[in-house]
Amino acid sequence: MTGINEEHLRSHQSLSERTGKRGMAQTLEWSAAYSVGHPSLDVEHRDLMLTVARVSEADGEHAQLRPLLCELKRKAEAHFEHESAILREIVAATSSARQSRRLVAAMGQALIEEHLAEHDLALAVLDSMIRKTLSSPSRQMSSIGDNLTHWFITHAVKHDAHLKTLFQTIEHDCPELLGKVD
Ligand SMILES: [Fe+2]
Ligand SMILES: [Fe+2]
Repeated sequence: MTGINEEHLRSHQSLSERTGKRGMAQTLEWSAAYSVGHPSLDVEHRDLMLTVARVSEADGEHAQLRPLLCELKRKAEAHFEHESAILREIVAATSSARQSRRLVAAMGQALIEEHLAEHDLALAVLDSMIRKTLSSPSRQMSSIGDNLTHWFITHAVKHDAHLKTLFQTIEHDCPELLGKVD
């Protein structure tokens, strides 16, 4: 859990737990609002969303829950690795002072550093929720669907929303970069 502030992790977890206990049951359905304008990241977000929805539907079936949670963790790790690699590539490609790339460089770097750190935190939160559920299924199973829904929305809406602006700016300012970040 390198680089993750324990207090931040605890507050993030307790927010998930509180929203779950309030019964904030949201049905996850893909819509254009979730699109970040990058085809393969959109496919991965949609797949994560479907896997979270399948966990919610498993509804107390512990035999189904374990493989689903392992699948979700594997997909989340692969997704964060891919998205982080894309963001690092954007930072590297826009760090030159070329006029056409100034806007991307200015808007990208501060947000991207924050975003990369958030991926570590999101994975740690996911890992902790999964471990708690699998170690004490009867107590945790009822809230895992809501907690994962909240976890996904936090990632896709709160943190990934600015990626859409970033990709639109790249398309406008330096479209040749898009080919390097697929
Ligand atoms: Fe992200
Ligand atoms: Fe993402």
